Amino acid sequence: MAGCCKQYTDNWKYPTILLCLFGFFVNLRAVEPFFAAYLIGPHHNLTAEQVSASVFPVWTYSNLALLLPVFLLTDYLRYKPVIILQGLGMVISLLLSLLTHGVPAMQVMEFFYGIFSACDPAYYAYIYSVVDIAHYQKVTGYCRSITLVGVALGAVIGQLLVSLAGISLVYLNVISLTSTSVAFLCSLFLPLPSRTMFVHRKMAGDTTNILSKEMESPHSEQIQSVTITETENKSKCSNQCLQLLWRLGKEMKDCYSSMQILYWSLWWAFATAGYSQIINYVQLLWEHIEPSQKFAMYNGGAEAISTLLGAVLSFLVGYVKVNWDVFGELALTIFSAIDAGAIFIFMVYSRNIWMCYAGFIIFKSCYMLLITIATYQVAVNLSMERYALLFGFNTFVALVLQTILTLIVVDPRGLALDIVTQFIVYGSYFIVIAGIFFVRSMYLLIPLYCKGPVNQLQSAIKAKTHHYGIN
Ligand SMILES: *[C@@H]1O[C@H](CO)[C@@H](O)[C@H](O)[C@H]1NC(C)=O
Repeated sequence: MAGCCKQYTDNWKYPTILLCLFGFFVNLRAVEPFFAAYLIGPHHNLTAEQVSASVFPVWTYSNLALLLPVFLLTDYLRYKPVIILQGLGMVISLLLSLLTHGVPAMQVMEFFYGIFSACDPAYYAYIYSVVDIAHYQKVTGYCRSITLVGVALGAVIGQLLVSLAGISLVYLNVISLTSTSVAFLCSLFLPLPSRTMFVHRKMAGDTTNILSKEMESPHSEQIQSVTITETENKSKCSNQCLQLLWRLGKEMKDCYSSMQILYWSLWWAFATAGYSQIINYVQLLWEHIEPSQKFAMYNGGAEAISTLLGAVLSFLVGYVKVNWDVFGELALTIFSAIDAGAIFIFMVYSRNIWMCYAGFIIFKSCYMLLITIATYQVAVNLSMERYALLFGFNTFVALVLQTILTLIVVDPRGLALDIVTQFIVYGSYFIVIAGIFFVRSMYLLIPLYCKGPVNQLQSAIKAKTHHYGIN
């Protein structure tokens, strides 16, 4: 068992290339920015109300229902099958949207889309289990970048084909199906990881701060000896499961006992819920403002610009020297307020499609920027296992919030608001988030400034930072 652990250390390029190919092709979906228009258009003839109230919510519900089982199974199945399932979910979803018609069929299609989304965390966890920790950050960076390139390029291809060639959206569906099938084929060739994060591991009480240690100075021997502790004896499953759950609970409690991590996680969950809801329904708002039957759509352009701008801002923020421990909450406040402004001024009140596209670009790039800061803030204080746990749990909370939002605002059993009123609700939601974090940041900043001299402020910051360190 001890010998097997060395095999992946040098061989990081092969899985990385395959993972990048998978991430690129599975996200290269030209039909994505036009999906609402596609369902409403002549190939499906659904009404905007059917799409909004009956079809799109299924994605949210199935994603929520599947996230926990998939999260628990991912580690047990050793990641690869879950990535294959992710590709397969998208292929089936696009096949159904191509070949079947009617609301029930489209609901099944959204269910498979939900499988795709629920498997997403496995993609990044797989990197950790197959690539040596020394390469982890680099490989994660490649995978994230190539994923964004895939999204943006897919949107550009869709936009060009719609604007220049004037082709039917059905062909965009075919093109997307082709590229996701390539992704599915790539996933079949991924190596099966020889280690996993939680299940097949010993109780690892001393694995904290792997990532931060790694970033300060790579004591690679120490890190390897800490991270590669395989169970020698495969104990009975029930015992293992109980042990696992107990450990997950304990780790979770430790994570959230830091106020800073708790607040960033809260923002993460709330903002992600609002963001996903807006991303899901913004196409219906565009459709409402300028029906796609009469208007030449630029959805793909808006999608591509917002994705690239968000990626560039996220990259640049790495070079900004700001003490996020102190000004992080203020940044959350300001950008949440900008998000609310983009929704209210550009999307709801302008009733102009160009303003609406601009609002979407501002909204999405701000969110991507902040998520990068939030990810960094949380990751820097945590080990990889805890980070994955926290990320999984935050995603889960975000989905619960999104489900509640969907049930109240969109679902026919709830208020079933029209699309403009929905966006007023989402705008108010971001105002509430901005308000909460305004209070929080004033609570943090005012005492620091009242103490006066700069060096006192700095020592306060140092003390605070130290306090936040886990153990
Ligand atoms: C949608 O409507 C168009 C025109 O009314 C019709 O030609 C087409 O067959 C319909 N498609 C479906 C799937 O009902």
